[in-house]
Amino acid sequence: MSIKVAPWFTRLFPPERVKRLVHSEFGLEFYQQFLIRHGVSMFITGVPDSGKTQLDCYILEWLCQLETIVKWDTGKEDILPLFNFGKPIQFLIPWGCKLIIRGKMPCECIITPVMAPELYFSMIRKDWINILSIRNFFLEEEEMKKYVRAIFRHFSLRARLDEFDGWVPACIDLDEAHAIVGSGRIDKTDIAQKTGQDLGNSIKESRKKKIRFILISQGYYDLPGISRENTPCYGVKRGTICERRDNPRINYLSGFARECESRHGWIILPNGKYFGRESPLSFPFYPDPPGIRLFYIGFFDALGDDEMDEILPELGRYAAAAMRPEEIERVPSRSLVPPVVNDEDEPVKWEMPAEWKEMMES
Ligand SMILES: Nc1ncnc2c1ncn2[C@@H]1O[C@H](COP(=O)(O)OP(=O)(O)OP(=O)(O)O)[C@@H](O)[C@H]1O
Ligand SMILES: [Mg+2]
Repeated sequence: MSIKVAPWFTRLFPPERVKRLVHSEFGLEFYQQFLIRHGVSMFITGVPDSGKTQLDCYILEWLCQLETIVKWDTGKEDILPLFNFGKPIQFLIPWGCKLIIRGKMPCECIITPVMAPELYFSMIRKDWINILSIRNFFLEEEEMKKYVRAIFRHFSLRARLDEFDGWVPACIDLDEAHAIVGSGRIDKTDIAQKTGQDLGNSIKESRKKKIRFILISQGYYDLPGISRENTPCYGVKRGTICERRDNPRINYLSGFARECESRHGWIILPNGKYFGRESPLSFPFYPDPPGIRLFYIGFFDALGDDEMDEILPELGRYAAAAMRPEEIERVPSRSLVPPVVNDEDEPVKWEMPAEWKEMMES
């Protein structure tokens, strides 16, 4: 059966990129089985440095033209290549914390502080790349997991009530998902297990709502079964290990993936076809835009006085910009970080208002 690419799809992308896609068997199947089928999720595994995040960039470069993107920020600055995708960016950060972007952003960018975990998914902007920047704003892994659990519990509830119809179809991309949900292997805590189950249920239910998940983790067994078993697609990168009884296809491909370069990978699609059998698929490299730095300031779980005293020295020269809880109360408007919109010529820069500076110095 021949696969025809719809004209509405080709119009969204540069002709060269579409040409490369339609001239490969993988590209055509990827188009038909994954790109244009909203709600189809993928799970990507591979050892550290095997190119998982780069493969994710390849997928998101397509998807961001077709769906709203919600992307988990690992805090390692590996979201930077997304700034080159020509889409506006919204950072969602915990209320009371600050994100400073230095350098000239190649796209429109706003920073939105979110008052409570249950509100994150209500702040999503349709057709934007929405970045959940949470990880670097927590000192304690466990506190972060509780916060993230609250986000996803409310996500499931609200999705069921069709509250997200305003921004679907969408892709929720969880890089380093093991750090978010934990697993039987890495994190046996109760909260991690429950978050894992919530996520698994979310994936199952979201398909009908045209919301897909991309989960990325170092090992197949890093995520609870219910999460990984609800993704009909897989990305296999170097060092993936999987028992035959759990997934015969990944098990077969993992033999090839013992040694390969970071640009190489294998993809399994929902119809069971897998690509890279003869020789691995080779994916492009996505560089960071030059000269951009992100600074995460403040810890959401350390808003008590004593803890704040311990943290301030760690912030180095940004310590002066961190806010103590009592100072937060004294800011009349409570708008700690006003959204910063980047117009054409202005680099995105958050300036502390003069009155706050005076307050801190006094
Ligand atoms: N397609 C590619 N072309 C060229 N180099 C690549 C490609 N993909 C990955 N690399 C190289 O491998 C490095 C690691 O890639 P990446 O950050 O995607 O790995 P990762 O599996 O996400 O690692 P981690 O588990 O530490 O997050 C990149 O910095 C780059 O040097
Ligand atoms: Mg990575």
